[in-house]
Amino acid sequence: MPIALITGANRGVGFALARELARRGFHVLVGARNLDRGQNAAASLRSEGFAADAVVLDMERPNTFAAVRDEIAARFGVLDILVNNAGTMLEAEQWNTNTTLTISPDVLRRTFQINFFGPVELTQLLLPLLERSPDGRIVNVSTILASLQLHATPGSNTYETKTFGYNSSKTALNAFTVHLAHALRQSRIKVIGIHPGWVKTELGGKGALIEPEDAARKIADAITSPTTPVGVVLFGGKQLPW
Ligand SMILES: NC(=O)c1ccc[n+]([C@@H]2O[C@H](COP(=O)([O-])OP(=O)(O)OC[C@H]3O[C@@H](n4cnc5c(N)ncnc54)[C@H](OP(=O)(O)O)[C@@H]3O)[C@@H](O)[C@H]2O)c1
Repeated sequence: MPIALITGANRGVGFALARELARRGFHVLVGARNLDRGQNAAASLRSEGFAADAVVLDMERPNTFAAVRDEIAARFGVLDILVNNAGTMLEAEQWNTNTTLTISPDVLRRTFQINFFGPVELTQLLLPLLERSPDGRIVNVSTILASLQLHATPGSNTYETKTFGYNSSKTALNAFTVHLAHALRQSRIKVIGIHPGWVKTELGGKGALIEPEDAARKIADAITSPTTPVGVVLFGGKQLPW
């Protein structure tokens, strides 16, 4: 059974994706920063007949990463899919205001730790296990709000949403997607960036349009299709502008 690790999988898009990948035959490792929340999510998937276990991964505590690497190595000897899904918008209360002049250094640093530095460090650590997969995938869950081109285009649908910490941390994550795809271009591992759409989760907020299950199905399609473009950020099967 192939193994998929999803960070931030105790709720939201991550949980829906864990269930979707489990349905497609993966043994899913439910990454959660809180053990109880992770175990509840994994138990709920097991109660549906799926193979699922919780692992503690906190993007703000990179010292949680090595134990997970060691556990995967000991139990499975391989990792087939890593989904860097855990993410945060600490400026959510200032949604639709430009936070560039007001965001505190602490909030900016924490946002980058969770959305960028954590995923980069975790990916580097898990790479030897992913290299053992015949068909490895690294998926970075990004956002349309990371697009510099759209932010610089008055009238674009993201032009007014200048949550600076969130947006720029995901722009950095997109740079990781491009650079990682280049670094791994001779390997069997494919690196995929994806915007899930505006999804009905805590982060997505009340106005969101898409059910987590629908977003998860599209992400799982992109992960499992052999023709998915690599090293770009996808939305609805198309590449988003940088
Ligand atoms: N929803 C949207 O409309 C939308 C749009 C574009 C992109 N995205 C991206 O999709 C991904 C999932 O978002 P979502 O909408 O599902 O958000 P969500 O419902 O708020 O869930 C976020 C998940 O990330 C976890 N998380 C937060 N901080 C963490 C940390 N320090 N370490 C590890 N996990 C942490 C949360 O864990 P706790 O339960 O412990 O807080 C939770 O499991 C994010 O990367 C987000 O940027 C979402």
